[in-house]
Amino acid sequence: MASKLFTIALVVALAATLINIYVKRQGETRYLFHTEWYDPVSATVRKFLLSFFPRDNAVEMYDLRSQRLFLKRLAIEGLDEKDFYLGNTIVVLSRQLKITEYADSTTREIISSKRQRTFAMVKPDAVHRLGEVIDVIQSRNFEVSQMKMVQLTRAQAGLFYREHEGRPFFEPLLDYVTSGPVVAMELITTNAVQRWRETLGPTDAELARREAPDTIRAKFGKDKQSNAAHGSDSDVAATREIEFFFPSSKVHDIMVPQTTARFLNNTCCIIKPHAIAEGNMGSILKAIKDEGFEVSALQMFRMDKIQAEEFLEVYKGVVSEYPGMLQQLISGPSVAIEITSIHAGQTPVKFREFVGPADPIVAKELRPNSLRARFGENTVKNALHCSDLPDDGPLEVEYFFKILQ
Ligand code: CDP
Ligand code: MG
Repeated sequence: MASKLFTIALVVALAATLINIYVKRQGETRYLFHTEWYDPVSATVRKFLLSFFPRDNAVEMYDLRSQRLFLKRLAIEGLDEKDFYLGNTIVVLSRQLKITEYADSTTREIISSKRQRTFAMVKPDAVHRLGEVIDVIQSRNFEVSQMKMVQLTRAQAGLFYREHEGRPFFEPLLDYVTSGPVVAMELITTNAVQRWRETLGPTDAELARREAPDTIRAKFGKDKQSNAAHGSDSDVAATREIEFFFPSSKVHDIMVPQTTARFLNNTCCIIKPHAIAEGNMGSILKAIKDEGFEVSALQMFRMDKIQAEEFLEVYKGVVSEYPGMLQQLISGPSVAIEITSIHAGQTPVKFREFVGPADPIVAKELRPNSLRARFGENTVKNALHCSDLPDDGPLEVEYFFKILQ
């Protein structure tokens, strides 16, 4: 076993060095990563050393088991430098590859400084303005890489804010953050921790309005306590807070905040990956709210091929766009939403009308105010998936908010 590991390590080191020498000679930037792909045919995890060339968004893959070049340098449409960071999943020729490690020190240094993570939380007083907050987040070039609407229990809130225990504002703070759902997010960008604190502004929203009127707390907060959003104050805090809301191992722990899904009188929609990549998530959420619907649960998912096939099963062989729909759904993060409204049992029909016809070109003609008319491009990139029949809604909500939890 030990000698096998040693051989693998040697092969990796040698391959990395050879690739480095070659690329340096070419005078071109390239990053090197360890990636894993689950091969459903052999039911094994295959490991690749992957080179990424930002000049033309090309990749080259080296199979570590067979010790062979697996994919010769190839430009991949839709791939971008910003997709390359630890833990992310990229799609190369329909294969979902998880980036598990930086394979050389240069890649580690450059990428980790470019792509810092921080934790953000939209607090109960600002959740009804989530769309606008996300618009600010996206306009400042933060990428939302995880997101979940949850209801904190008092014990969870106390643990999250334990550094403030004993302070006079501690108990009122717990009342406030448990007074309704919050939306937890992992944000990624250059120097994310500091930049998100700057985007938030001072703790006291009134002070923020006087001294930093362009900040989130100035725009959406009320006072010293109800200040719309949270941001980690250090790298260490960010790691702890992200783990608190998005634990890396799926343990059932009462201290892990849970979804707000109601599973009643609801329907389901998904903001598709292309709409998120185009920066339309905030506008879509705002439009849904302005139309009088309520987002009663929401979570970001990165669906793999097996999950997407399972989810889209009813369309297979029925809809000609099925392969494209499948491809679109696994091409990046999507956001699943439970929709409820005052229309109760009528919600699925009313919401479907608001989403509009499947083809955005038809939608633009017939229902110019519908979401697909406003945010869609074609039948595959039509901004949202929406439950077809009223009976499907609750099942789809259960799929995301029970089965995939
Ligand atoms: O959130 P931030 O890091 O800016 O401030 P903090 O000092 O860590 O306090 C945490 C939260 O407690 C604040 O965001 C406020 O919601 C609340 N707080 C309060 O209610 N009264 C204070 N005097 C200070 C903070
Ligand atoms: Mg703080």
